[in-house]
Amino acid sequence: MRHFLTLKDLTSLELEQLITRAIELKRMHKAGEIYQPLKNKVLAMIFEKSSTRTRVSFESAMLQFGGGSIFLSPNDTQLGRGEPIEDSARVISSMVDVVMIRTFEHDKVVRFAEYSSAPVINALTDDYHPCQLLADMQTYVEHRGSIKGKTVVWVGDGNNMCHSYINAAERFGFNLNIATPVGYEPNAAIVAQAKANISLFTDVKSAAKDADMIVTDVWASMGQEEEQRKREVAFADFQVDSTVMALAHHDALFMHCLPAHRGEEVSAEVLDGQQSVVWDEAENRLHAQKALLEFLCASVSAPQ
Ligand code: CP
Ligand code: NVA
Repeated sequence: MRHFLTLKDLTSLELEQLITRAIELKRMHKAGEIYQPLKNKVLAMIFEKSSTRTRVSFESAMLQFGGGSIFLSPNDTQLGRGEPIEDSARVISSMVDVVMIRTFEHDKVVRFAEYSSAPVINALTDDYHPCQLLADMQTYVEHRGSIKGKTVVWVGDGNNMCHSYINAAERFGFNLNIATPVGYEPNAAIVAQAKANISLFTDVKSAAKDADMIVTDVWASMGQEEEQRKREVAFADFQVDSTVMALAHHDALFMHCLPAHRGEEVSAEVLDGQQSVVWDEAENRLHAQKALLEFLCASVSAPQ
């Protein structure tokens, strides 16, 4: 049985194959082909943080695959009343075929997976957001072909998305320039695992030169709302605007996992402009996660 807690749970080859499969599943879906490999299968979705894209894409994926899903929030499950994660993992996984979790501490998904008899998917923790990277890689390949050897520039916070980009740089073989304010760098241990692919910067302009793609994210992530004001000051010089895009290659793409704040981490002109592929990127959450669900459910051996 396999889990998907970070991109590193899959090999480079498996990830490449998953992206190819996502593109094929998208084609099939658009052609109106009915494909139901997960008939009668159930996905449990544990959400301890808000979501639009992740919830809609996973629920739609399960419906289109012939299965179903259950939305679980801490407000109406015993998880919110302190039932241990290990007990919840044993109980929930005994009744469903695959589990998706969005939470705060990454350690929670690790512990859940340890006690789960079904594959577990990390749908965002404070440290990683690997599902988003599947969609981002699919989007790059669809627009520009292989990302291997290309230069991707991360602008802003050294957060969960940035950490998953670091993993992706190592697995997909691209160079990642990371521009953050001092004090907001990504986790040094995660950077160290991919150091041949990573360059750290404290100013956006030097990082953005000759980029094939520029990507950013909110300045204050879920759980950091009370730091919003302080972060607006720290990140004031870290907006992706048309001056920054002009330093990149003329055909560079702009991505953002969304939700975005126009006028903060990205100007409206860039987010809504020609180089932005954020709507394809959001839609690809559906197709990439279908490929992931198919892969993980196939990895569970059938009962004897
Ligand atoms: N990008 C992303 O994960 O969006 P949601 O928070 O809406 O799920
Ligand atoms: N870094 C953001 C990503 C949202 C999809 C957050 O964690 O809130």
